[in-house]
Amino acid sequence: MKAQILTILSAAAFAAAATTASAGDPAAGKAKSVACAGCHGAEGISMIPTYPNLAGQKEEYLITTLKGFRDGTRENATMNPMAKPLSDADIDNLAAYYASLK
Ligand code: HEC
Repeated sequence: MKAQILTILSAAAFAAAATTASAGDPAAGKAKSVACAGCHGAEGISMIPTYPNLAGQKEEYLITTLKGFRDGTRENATMNPMAKPLSDADIDNLAAYYASLK
């Protein structure tokens, strides 16, 4: 009986963890995004036709894309140096922030 209760509790904990997509902190991401706003817009909507919008983009996509720019697997002369100094936590926070925008 005790084991059954533990199983139910751990399943509930797993379900709760699965619904929170990442550990990123949108507020910290917003603070960090000051360096990005010049090109990607203050609210993640770019004013420049050749620069992509980031608002509302998928969080997981933003994380893999920024890591790709950082390690050079995605090459872009503008974005590679922008991503270089970002830590994993910075990337999680930026992704949470941009994904939270409409
Ligand atoms: C000087 C302008 C500039 C700055 C500053 C800049 N970016 Fe970019 N960013 C670009 C351009 C241009 C692209 C398109 C790159 C390409 O075509 O591969 C891009 C692409 C991206 C993409 C990929 C979008 C997609 O749809 O695939 C992400 C994510 C991104 N930038 C995040 C950031 C973040 C986060 C910052 C701040 C740390 C930042 N950028 C700062 C110009 C900039």
